[in-house]
Amino acid sequence: MKLTSAITILGLSLLGNTATVPLGQKRSGVAGTTAISSAAVSSSPVPRSPVPSSPVPSSAVPSRTVSRAVVPTATASGFRSVAYYADWDIYNTSYFVTNITASTLTHLVYCFADLDANTGSVSVSDAWADLQYPYPGDNQSDTSSVAGNVKQLYLLKQQNRNLKTIFSIGGYSWASKFENFTLTAQGRQTFAQSALLLIQNLGFDGIDIDWEYPSDPEHAQAMVLLLEELRTTLDTYSAQYAHGTHLLLSVAAPAGPANYEALNITGMDQYLDMWNIMAYDYAGSWSNYTGDHANVYPSQSNNNSTPGHTDGAISYYLSQGVAAKKINFGMPLYGRSFTNTSGLGLPFGGVGSNGQGINYNVLGGPNANITEMADVIASYSYDSTNGGTLTSFDTPNIALLKAQYMLEKGIGGAMYWELSGDKTGPESIIATVANSVGNLDQTLNLLSYPQSNYTNIKNKMN
Ligand SMILES: *[C@@H]1O[C@H](CO)[C@@H](O)[C@H](O)[C@H]1NC(C)=O
Ligand SMILES: *[C@@H]1O[C@H](CO)[C@@H](O)[C@H](O)[C@H]1NC(C)=O
Ligand SMILES: *[C@@H]1O[C@H](CO)[C@@H](O)[C@H](O)[C@H]1NC(C)=O
Ligand SMILES: *[C@@H]1O[C@H](CO)[C@@H](O)[C@H](O)[C@H]1NC(C)=O
Ligand SMILES: *[C@@H]1O[C@H](CO)[C@@H](O)[C@H](O)[C@H]1NC(C)=O
Ligand SMILES: *[C@@H]1O[C@H](CO)[C@@H](O)[C@H](O)[C@H]1NC(C)=O
Ligand SMILES: *[C@@H]1O[C@H](CO)[C@@H](O)[C@H](O)[C@H]1NC(C)=O
Ligand SMILES: *[C@@H]1O[C@H](CO)[C@@H](O)[C@H](O)[C@H]1NC(C)=O
Ligand SMILES: *[C@@H]1O[C@H](CO)[C@@H](O)[C@H](O)[C@H]1NC(C)=O
Ligand SMILES: *[C@@H]1O[C@H](CO)[C@@H](O)[C@H](O)[C@H]1NC(C)=O
Repeated sequence: MKLTSAITILGLSLLGNTATVPLGQKRSGVAGTTAISSAAVSSSPVPRSPVPSSPVPSSAVPSRTVSRAVVPTATASGFRSVAYYADWDIYNTSYFVTNITASTLTHLVYCFADLDANTGSVSVSDAWADLQYPYPGDNQSDTSSVAGNVKQLYLLKQQNRNLKTIFSIGGYSWASKFENFTLTAQGRQTFAQSALLLIQNLGFDGIDIDWEYPSDPEHAQAMVLLLEELRTTLDTYSAQYAHGTHLLLSVAAPAGPANYEALNITGMDQYLDMWNIMAYDYAGSWSNYTGDHANVYPSQSNNNSTPGHTDGAISYYLSQGVAAKKINFGMPLYGRSFTNTSGLGLPFGGVGSNGQGINYNVLGGPNANITEMADVIASYSYDSTNGGTLTSFDTPNIALLKAQYMLEKGIGGAMYWELSGDKTGPESIIATVANSVGNLDQTLNLLSYPQSNYTNIKNKMN
């Protein structure tokens, strides 16, 4: 997306003010206009409409402005910057592990591992990409050593000692595979033992479960028991082979009410280090109106445009006892397009890219006008030619407002789907957020895997 065309920034005059929103939630002040600085956009004068201009009571104005000054000083447990990285990136976008800018990340969630729907046994899904693909310098005759993305991830960990790697199991396409084996103790045990092998053999720091989604009480409880089994399995291994280093356990967690209300969040939380909240995909091909797909607040003036909102999801997790510090606020590195439409919150004829997301770094055309809405914290582009195309995506300005929301709420980290979609340089969403939240988490990764079935991992690449 070229950002040099006309830009409309809506609602900046509301920044720092408080307004009542539907659903009984109080919106807290999230930003000062000074936050809008590192943006790659050149802001034009702020239009006063269509932003609601009703007076805001002065008592509602927040007493402080979030800035770097309020960020705690460096600790091991600084802010987390967590990105999913898909093993198919090496084919689809020629985005290799060696292309990753690790300095702005603290956790990389590698996806996905596959699972056997009957037994619960976990395995790599693409042995070529994961274990074999020859990167420059790899010795293909050395079959006792791992190559592929897994070797490169280990090298990346050696070069970036605060980068923790987590293997994610499942994903949207394989959701149904969780439905049977998780109901038996044997199935959960097989799952946990084989998931441990991904850590032990391939040099990861933890496991992420992407089960979309347990939908009834029986499966909600199966999820709790699955996490319990994993926690025990990881701790037992670690005590024996990793000097008790805490191995990580996270889940990809829903942001839609029907899905999060079905979970036993309190039961799960006791075993989890992080909740990766998938705070995107609120609108798309399945919607009746064009809409924001990753907004923080619901719109007061155009409610068709915000079928979901992140603040509602996060408030719910907090209400269930999840510590804000355990939450990773998910942000999209892709947009969702609607075609043949007159604008936001209106009907549309079709969707772009077969309904798939379009990576942020390849979005749009040179003519699209971009609108940033500080009230809902969302942005979109609109191109009136060819029947009208609207694309919902986050600009760096909007990412900054999200970062300020996270600081304000004490949220422990940001999460991104998916790493290959980011831009480089000042328009990088990940760098924009990482540079605005103060110190990043410095907890060291694990490099010692004495039980690995690969000699190069076992020998730390020596
Ligand atoms: C990337 O490739 C995988 C496997 O070839 C495919 O399933 C997936 O849909 C592709 N994703 C995109 C965004 O093109
Ligand atoms: C990844 O790095 C290689 C080597 O520097 C480069 O040729 C390639 O264009 C990069 N890929 C992407 C998607 O930037
Ligand atoms: C590649 O691996 C094979 C098998 O282990 C070994 O014989 C050979 O010396 C290695 N080549 C190089 C260049 O290290
Ligand atoms: C789960 O079990 C049911 C009943 O046996 C079966 O119909 C269904 O296909 C199974 N699901 C999966 C993903 O194997
Ligand atoms: C090593 O372990 C991984 C993960 O458990 C497995 O996928 C792989 O096939 C194993 N490789 C060898 C050579 O044993
Ligand atoms: C949630 O899980 C915990 C731990 O297993 C259990 O004690 C509790 O009863 C569960 N809550 C519900 C509503 O099922
Ligand atoms: C779209 O509209 C139809 C008809 O009113 C309704 O049944 C359906 O639930 C709506 N879909 C969404 C996602 O709101
Ligand atoms: C959306 O707005 C319309 C008209 O402003 C109103 O009738 C409707 O109740 C609103 N819906 C929600 C869910 O707030
Ligand atoms: C969009 O509108 C054009 C006519 O303006 C029509 O030819 C086309 O089929 C429409 N596309 C969709 C997806 O509705
Ligand atoms: C962008 O906005 C300007 C001003 O409203 C308008 O004249 C122009 O047609 C718009 N461009 C596109 C591609 O929609």
